[in-house]
Amino acid sequence: MEPKLVLILFLLISATATCEYIRPPPRKTLHFPWNSKLSAHPQQVHVSLAGDKHMRVSWVSNYKSTLPMVEYGTSPGRYSNKSQGESTSYSYLFYSSGKIHHTVIGPLEDNTVYYYRCGGGGPEYKLKTPPAQFPVMFAVAGDLGQTGWTKSTLDHIDLCKYDVHLLPGDLSYADYIQHRWDTFGELVEPLASARPWMVTQGNHEKESIMFFKDGFQSYNSRWKMPFEESGSSSNLYYSFEVAGAHIIMLGSYADYDEHSDQYNWLKADVAKVDRKKTPWLIVLFHVPWYNSNEAHQDEGGRMMAAMEPLLHAASVDIVLAGHVHAYERTERVNNGKLDPCGAVHITIGDGGNREGLARKYKNPQPAWSVFREASFGHGELKLANSTHAYWSWHRNDDDEPVRSDQVWITSLENSGCIAEKKHELMKILSEP
Ligand SMILES: *[C@@H]1O[C@H](CO)[C@@H](O)[C@H](O)[C@H]1NC(C)=O
Ligand SMILES: *[C@@H]1O[C@H](CO)[C@@H](O)[C@H](O)[C@H]1NC(C)=O
Ligand SMILES: [Fe+2]
Repeated sequence: MEPKLVLILFLLISATATCEYIRPPPRKTLHFPWNSKLSAHPQQVHVSLAGDKHMRVSWVSNYKSTLPMVEYGTSPGRYSNKSQGESTSYSYLFYSSGKIHHTVIGPLEDNTVYYYRCGGGGPEYKLKTPPAQFPVMFAVAGDLGQTGWTKSTLDHIDLCKYDVHLLPGDLSYADYIQHRWDTFGELVEPLASARPWMVTQGNHEKESIMFFKDGFQSYNSRWKMPFEESGSSSNLYYSFEVAGAHIIMLGSYADYDEHSDQYNWLKADVAKVDRKKTPWLIVLFHVPWYNSNEAHQDEGGRMMAAMEPLLHAASVDIVLAGHVHAYERTERVNNGKLDPCGAVHITIGDGGNREGLARKYKNPQPAWSVFREASFGHGELKLANSTHAYWSWHRNDDDEPVRSDQVWITSLENSGCIAEKKHELMKILSEP
């Protein structure tokens, strides 16, 4: 080849290469000072929605501090109201947890800042309740773990003005080492004590030991979600409403077949949805159903076969999943095919855990897959009004949040889909 031609080719290749994003490598697991003797001060404080106008405050203390009491009010240092809650604890192999407290506060005003204190002392915390009307903003990130990238993702989420955090599973990556639940609680406290964190379980929460330990003991003890408030008998699946959204948290690791408790509860829950009041219907679970990454291929298949017909008949707008450590967004899809009355599926398991990214994709890219990339980051879902939502995905570019994918999503409310599928829904709901 002519030397000139080689030079031109080289320049062309290097020019295109610099345009492409070079993903940084996984970052180290963070090391926290961990003291097996808990202090008397409340720690690992986080809040979650607990039914209409109520929130649950959860925290851990040592055993001397016994009161599951939260004092709160709308000005700093002045706690006009207080609530009593419940306390629990658990043992796991050689580990004994601190005392874990859950206290429901309210009735609370919408879109209002409250100052609060846990257990009758310790530092003051501050939370904001979500608005009752549109617009409402959700931050979304799954598979968090506790690495340098987790920290970067959390810092970016902190910059966004969000009302509620949605987490589709895999929180601490404790993986049997129980004190990692404590360090995770401390890592997320600045965010999770200020805005409700609504979570569902992933495989890393299971921690079961055959013949010896059932799964989800630590998760259920520490991250109590409003399952009782939503008529569910298990912390592994529940629902809640914020502004104009009905949000269903399903369990990829709870039974989901047609005769399971989860399926029956889901039928009852979708039957209660009033699209006039909550035009947006959103579902979260851990293992994605639409995933063109090589990682975890088809793991969600059985759950999808059992539950997708019901979710489709109910006209779900958006499904958020995790598990695959990468980002992917689909067109509206159902039963493996493009369908204008199907849901948009988003995989957002790229919070920053120590296992690193899932880089290999199946080719050709399926027709339903619009955008896929293996990078760490987080998502933001803004419901602007009853018909329009703005979804954006923010990649952790070095340490900067860079908006890399964005799309307006229009709700199925007013689309004709709900009316069209009314009989399909009635049929499924009336099956014994
Ligand atoms: C305190 O509780 C009362 C009774 O539930 C309620 O009317 C009042 O609004 C509450 N005050 C605050 C600051 O939450
Ligand atoms: C909803 O929001 C979108 C985007 O901002 C806007 O174009 C549309 O007019 C709004 N619809 C209503 C009914 O306000
Ligand atoms: Fe997972």
